[in-house]
Amino acid sequence: MKVVLGVSGASGALFGAEMLRALVCHRVDVDLICSPVAEQVAQQELGEGISARVARILRETGSPASVRALDYEDFGAAPSSGSYLHHGMLIMPCSMATVGRIATGSAPNLICRAADVCLKERRPLILGVRETPLSTIHLRNLTALSEAGAIIAPAAPSFYGNPESIIAMVRIYCGRMLDILGIENEWAYRWSR
Ligand SMILES: Cc1cc2nc3c(=O)[nH]c(=O)nc-3n(C[C@H](O)[C@H](O)[C@H](O)COP(=O)(O)O)c2cc1C
Repeated sequence: MKVVLGVSGASGALFGAEMLRALVCHRVDVDLICSPVAEQVAQQELGEGISARVARILRETGSPASVRALDYEDFGAAPSSGSYLHHGMLIMPCSMATVGRIATGSAPNLICRAADVCLKERRPLILGVRETPLSTIHLRNLTALSEAGAIIAPAAPSFYGNPESIIAMVRIYCGRMLDILGIENEWAYRWSR
């Protein structure tokens, strides 16, 4: 299985990092596209750059899955084309700037172009949006994207599993994203009574 993971410059770099871990742990190959601001936020929130975190995740999981880092400005990269087959795209975390760009269809970078391709090809596009509060402009853009087929999945983890740490909370959320992609997993907390 192959998934495109976009990481934008919203707060919540840990969501991007743990989503990558969730995918490679489940043997999913990843095409990774990071925005320049995502790199800046990763330094601030994770204390290391994205490539260092990717290397650490691959080392810790020992997964045979591949992670291919693609250039944000490279419109010639594979996910720019609908002919490139994959199983869907997540943008995690997803900034309101990226939401706005996808909603207009302007596709000024590879994250937005790959998302645009998912919408036109009717492939899963999951947006782990993070902003609060939301303006009417944000809400209108999110509505437009939802109507176009995107799944709006705010980076808002659940609490009913009583997670004991921030990382546990984030992993439960990432498990739900795997659910949406149809990937069997034990990361999601299953409510049962
Ligand atoms: C530390 C930091 C945290 C930010 N948090 C958010 C956020 O949670 N949500 C958001 O929409 N933008 C946030 N921003 C602003 C975005 O980074 C900014 O809009 C940028 O243009 C996003 O570009 P990108 O989507 O191409 O990464 C944050 C910026 C910084 C530096």
